Amino acid sequence: MKHQSLFLAFLIWMLTSVCSAAEESLNIPADIKPILKKEMLAVEKGMQELISSMAKGDWDKTVAIGKQIQASYIMKQTLTSEQRKQLHQSLPKQFIKQDHAFHHYAGMLAHAAEVKNLDVMNFYFYKMNESCVQCHSRYALERFPAFATQSADHSAKNH
Ligand code: HEC
Repeated sequence: MKHQSLFLAFLIWMLTSVCSAAEESLNIPADIKPILKKEMLAVEKGMQELISSMAKGDWDKTVAIGKQIQASYIMKQTLTSEQRKQLHQSLPKQFIKQDHAFHHYAGMLAHAAEVKNLDVMNFYFYKMNESCVQCHSRYALERFPAFATQSADHSAKNH
């Protein structure tokens, strides 16, 4: 009996350490945090506007918003070169990759709207939405603690 509960405790310890290893902490310099927040709020607004413009068949507006989101890429923002260096060193490679991918999808959505391809446009909207969730559930747990409770299915598919 005693052995069993020890084993159980060990198992729980194993599981929790595996889970916490999956979330990496972000070490964003204090002077850059407000810039990231500003970009995130702009991106959120852009996504909301995209829902409307896409639903209304407003191609031009969809192109414009997609391009705007693509260009708002945080590393390209008006950071000083010192800040840029600092940021690059402080962010995990995987985070930078996800950020790149997200902005790439926004560009692809704009392109799909330019050539008026509904299926491809919808696909990239889905990819953009997926990017928010993937990045937040991995790197923004402090800001969005609700992601700490997700089904095992998610982690099995995405790691
Ligand atoms: C590559 C990573 C990444 C992607 C992609 C991403 N975010 Fe974020 N986002 C973050 C991080 C990190 C934070 C938390 C920053 C903090 O702790 O202050 C955040 C915070 C936010 C916030 C909260 C801002 C506040 O008030 O503090 C909003 C809103 C947001 N993101 C919206 C979005 C939306 C919408 C998308 C997708 C269309 C998205 N984000 C995609 C990393 C990302």
